[in-house]
Amino acid sequence: MIVFRSVCKTYKLGLLKKTTLAVDDLSISIPTGSVFGLVGPNGAGKSTTIRMLLNLIRPDRGEVLIDDSSVSDGSFLRDVGYLPENPYLYDHLTLRELLQFAGRSCGLSATVIAQRTQELTEQTGIAHALKRRLRTFSKGMRQRAGLCFALLHDPSLVILDEPMSGLDPLGRKMVCDLILDLKQQGKTVFFCSHILSDTERLCDQIAILHQGRLVHEFDSDDLAEFRSGERCLEDEFVAAVGQDTVQKEMPS
Ligand SMILES: Nc1ncnc2c1ncn2[C@@H]1O[C@H](COP(=O)(O)OP(=O)(O)OP(=O)(O)O)[C@@H](O)[C@H]1O
Ligand SMILES: [Mg+2]
Repeated sequence: MIVFRSVCKTYKLGLLKKTTLAVDDLSISIPTGSVFGLVGPNGAGKSTTIRMLLNLIRPDRGEVLIDDSSVSDGSFLRDVGYLPENPYLYDHLTLRELLQFAGRSCGLSATVIAQRTQELTEQTGIAHALKRRLRTFSKGMRQRAGLCFALLHDPSLVILDEPMSGLDPLGRKMVCDLILDLKQQGKTVFFCSHILSDTERLCDQIAILHQGRLVHEFDSDDLAEFRSGERCLEDEFVAAVGQDTVQKEMPS
């Protein structure tokens, strides 16, 4: 179980230390083995929430727990796969070298690394590029490589910051299939996304974050209504964060 308990995070920026309240009193519980989707406008605090879950940054107040242990003890990290918002890959390596590096860092054997590399690069559609250096990859190929990197060690908690970002429609479908696969294997998936249609299809639980605050939570009953077409996440999103914000987010 992942638990955020009254979590707040502020950033201080510039010489004048201007304060931004990025996450404001967030409390949420996510059962093990479920798929959780965090949505919200740009700047809502989604990536900040993910970084606190990974203990990359610390909350100012409140606590983040995984299975009753604070994330600050770091012990959970071995079993976590993380795709950051803008995955940094070692550009001078080939894709195969990157995945060998990832596998060795986790103590996997050469056989397991080779097997997982084959499976994941086929599943993400980049097996043809194993010998290519990462600096020659397109944006979508980098995203796919980032996914392979995150999943190589078969983690039981998978945290994905905008996994569909930069992907073509087939790539988006691939990510959806991958998340459903992970769910079937009993893994816990925590992701944030701007693609509401995919999010409502994939998740067991969804939360809308707006200006750092959790403004709406949807459980399995709500999600059943989304899937049957009785309700729609996009309408609920507009109602929760306001028409003004949505219009501001639209590309001009
Ligand atoms: N390192 C930082 N220093 C200062 N302010 C930051 C920092 N990171 C994020 N912020 C601010 O915190 C708020 C939340 O940012 P965050 O990146 O968590 O949003 P987000 O929901 O992930 O947005 P997006 O959809 O654009 O990725 C924003 O106001 C942002 O400007
Ligand atoms: Mg973000």
